[in-house]
Amino acid sequence: MKIVRSPTAMTDWSERLLREGVNIGFVPTMGALHDGHRALIRQARLRCDALVVSLFVNPTQFGPQEDLAKYPRTLPQDRALCRAEGVDVCFEPTAQAMYPEGFQTIVTLPTIARRWEGERRPHHFSGVATVVTKLFGMVRPQLAFFGQKDFQQSALVRQLVKDLNLGVEISVCPTVREADGLAMSSRNVYLTQDERTRAVTLYKSLRAGAEAIRRGVTDGEAVQSVMVQVVKGEAAMTIDYLAVCDPFTLEPLSTVTSRVVLLGAVRIGSVRLIDNLLVTLPRRSS
Ligand code: PAF
Repeated sequence: MKIVRSPTAMTDWSERLLREGVNIGFVPTMGALHDGHRALIRQARLRCDALVVSLFVNPTQFGPQEDLAKYPRTLPQDRALCRAEGVDVCFEPTAQAMYPEGFQTIVTLPTIARRWEGERRPHHFSGVATVVTKLFGMVRPQLAFFGQKDFQQSALVRQLVKDLNLGVEISVCPTVREADGLAMSSRNVYLTQDERTRAVTLYKSLRAGAEAIRRGVTDGEAVQSVMVQVVKGEAAMTIDYLAVCDPFTLEPLSTVTSRVVLLGAVRIGSVRLIDNLLVTLPRRSS
C-alpha cells in the first residue's frame, strides 16, 4: 500500500492508472476508522480495480466551538486497517497542502444544506462540499463511497456532483451499527460508559417512528411526536431535531409518503449524535 501526501503526486498516480483504463474507487474519510468505514472500503474493493482512501481531518468543516482539536486521530491503526483491506493508496494530505495561502474558493449548496445539520452547524456543509470537490479533483475517482449515517451529507454530495458535472458515481452504503443498534461513528469514543448505554435511545426513537408509519400513521407531526416521546423518556438526552422528511429534498413532510427518511440529532453530555432511518412503504394498489 502506498502512502501519498502530496496532492500532485496523488493526481499523477491516478492519471497514470486512468490512462491504462483502470477504474478508481475512492473512500473519503477523516480517519479514526471503524467498522462502518471498513464496510465502505470492502464495498469499494469489490467494485473497483484500484482503491484510494483519504485520511484527512478537514478543518473547514468544523465550527469554532467544535471538536477539531480533540477529534480522534489514529493514523497507525487507520493505515493498518487500510492495508488489511487491500487499499492501494492512503492519501494523507496536510492542511497546508489542501488550503495553501491564497486559497479562496468555497462551494455552497444553499437549499439542501439549509436545514438540520446545516442549521445547527452553519459552516459545516460548505466545508464538506469544498473538500469533497477538491479531493475528487485530486483523486479523479469514477466511484466514491459514503455512509448513509450522514444522510444529509450524502444527499449534498449527490447534488454537488450533479450540479458541477463532476462525473463521479456516488454509492451510499447502509449504516453499520453496534450490536444494540447505535450507529457507528468516530465520535462514539467521546461517550462515557453510562452515556454509551443510553446512546441507543436515538436509534430506538427512529425505530418507533418507523413502526408508527408501518402501523398506518400518516400525519408527519404524529410520527415526530412518537419519536420525541422516546427521547424524552431518557432524561440525560436533549433533542436537537427529530424530523420526518422527504429523502430527496430533506424538507419536512406533513403527510407521510411511500418513502420517507426519519432524521435525528440529540445531545448526551457533551456528545452530539446523529442517525437516520429510511422507511419505504409498499405501494398500495388502487
Ligand atoms: O464524512 C466524513 O468523514 C467527512 O465529512 C468527509 C466526507 C471525509 C469530508 O471531510
